[in-house]
Amino acid sequence: MSHFQPVALEHASRLINHGPTVLVTSRSRDGTRRNIMAAAWSMPVEFTPPRIAIVIDKKTFTRELLKDSGSFGICIPGAALANLTYSVGSSTGFEDDKFARLGIKAVAGPVLGVPLLEAGCSAWLECRWIPEAHTEEAYDTCFGEVVAAAADERIFVRGRWSFRDDNRALQTLHHLGAGNFVCGGEVIHARAPG
Ligand SMILES: Cc1cc2nc3c(=O)[nH]c(=O)nc-3n(C[C@H](O)[C@H](O)[C@H](O)COP(=O)(O)O)c2cc1C
Repeated sequence: MSHFQPVALEHASRLINHGPTVLVTSRSRDGTRRNIMAAAWSMPVEFTPPRIAIVIDKKTFTRELLKDSGSFGICIPGAALANLTYSVGSSTGFEDDKFARLGIKAVAGPVLGVPLLEAGCSAWLECRWIPEAHTEEAYDTCFGEVVAAAADERIFVRGRWSFRDDNRALQTLHHLGAGNFVCGGEVIHARAPG
């Protein structure tokens, strides 16, 4: 049973606001090829419509599929997917189908049909790629408009993250380098200003 619930687009930026390592999913326009890679560098850049920036190396297979289909997904892995995250970030879809090799199950995004992970993930964002000719030539940064988002109700509650002892396996991963991640930690509730 899926615990995923839709997230209002005005709250989508909150899903990556704290800098989690994410999984970038993609497929070819004709649906015959699909891929998944890890990305530590992503951030929200606009509220309405919700837009995000993500660094996707020009040399990756992901970049090829993204340009072919005009879409991509951002899935936010929980701590339990640390090995999978490192694995998909250390191999290329030019060589094989990582979904098949690693037994990764995906659901189709509701708007663009992008493959999205739910099992072991806390959230996903389905994105339409925003072509930016100059940026693409000069940089590895890509932009996307979020067209749908959903999150696991056990950790994203009423539009906010809720990190607790009982949901540690779903808490987000933050890459320290070389396959080492830091996860969760003490939540500090700042006093209301004023
Ligand atoms: C934890 C982790 C974070 C990564 N972050 C990024 C990133 O932000 N941007 C990027 O272009 N590559 C990043 N990589 C590397 C890609 O995931 C890697 O090049 C991958 O093999 C590309 O796969 P593909 O060719 O199948 O698209 C990261 C790798 C790991 C393990």
